[in-house]
Amino acid sequence: MTAVLELHDVCAAYGPFRALFDVSLTIGPGEAVALLGPNGVGKTTVARVASGLVAPTSGRVEVDGVDLSGAPVHRYSRAGVAHAPEGRSVFATLSVEDNLVLSFRQSKGRQGVADALARAFEFFPVLEPRRRQLAGTLSGGQQRMLSMARVMVEAPKLLVADELSLGLAPIVVDQVYDTLGRLREAGTALLIVEQHVPHALALCDRVVLLGHGAVVWDGPAADAADVIADKVFRQAQDEPTGP
Ligand SMILES: Nc1ncnc2c1ncn2[C@@H]1O[C@H](COP(=O)(O)OP(=O)(O)O)[C@@H](O)[C@H]1O
Ligand SMILES: [Mg+2]
Repeated sequence: MTAVLELHDVCAAYGPFRALFDVSLTIGPGEAVALLGPNGVGKTTVARVASGLVAPTSGRVEVDGVDLSGAPVHRYSRAGVAHAPEGRSVFATLSVEDNLVLSFRQSKGRQGVADALARAFEFFPVLEPRRRQLAGTLSGGQQRMLSMARVMVEAPKLLVADELSLGLAPIVVDQVYDTLGRLREAGTALLIVEQHVPHALALCDRVVLLGHGAVVWDGPAADAADVIADKVFRQAQDEPTGP
């Protein structure tokens, strides 16, 4: 079966700074892969490459068997890749509904907005009673739901989710993961970037560990806990992770 996403020996850089070194990873249809590793090792960069936001300096990115290396980001979204970025990526001064309408107009066109809105509120019931509220006044968890709703409703082939649990209360993290689980059941493949290891291990089939811009381990989630405890994470977890 054709993989939903394949990175082949991807290198990436920010100006002169090389962030990724020959990163290869594959995500099959409906598969959930956790990308784990300490701060600053390149997880977000991999996420950006996977959704076309950063072009590799060398190597290849294939979505559904089509080489999209260096293609503009809209080709990735048309191919079914959605990206829920790090942080609260909502427009604070727009209402919940306007945030959604803005996204859906871009992705679905004017005709598709009403349908997509209805599905967004079905998928994230917490947002419906707040549809006229300014997004900036939502709680952190609600803002994360909103930024997920903006990309998820189209039932993407692949959702790239970057640190969705960062800074959220444990109960909200549970809700976020619950939503990811439902999305998964609906057939969406997942690339989950996380520092919160237990949730990611519970949700995902496979784990890719990143260290200093390179893959250091790739294997079944069931084996990952030991590997993480043994060598990669212990030291990093003891270090302060910043704000
Ligand atoms: N826009 C940028 N410009 C310059 N360097 C960056 C930029 N984004 C990230 N980096 C650097 O690239 C490396 C990997 O960053 P990132 O992918 O954000 O790591 P992670 O998500 O694992 O914390 C870090 O050293 C970081 O400082
Ligand atoms: Mg990051």
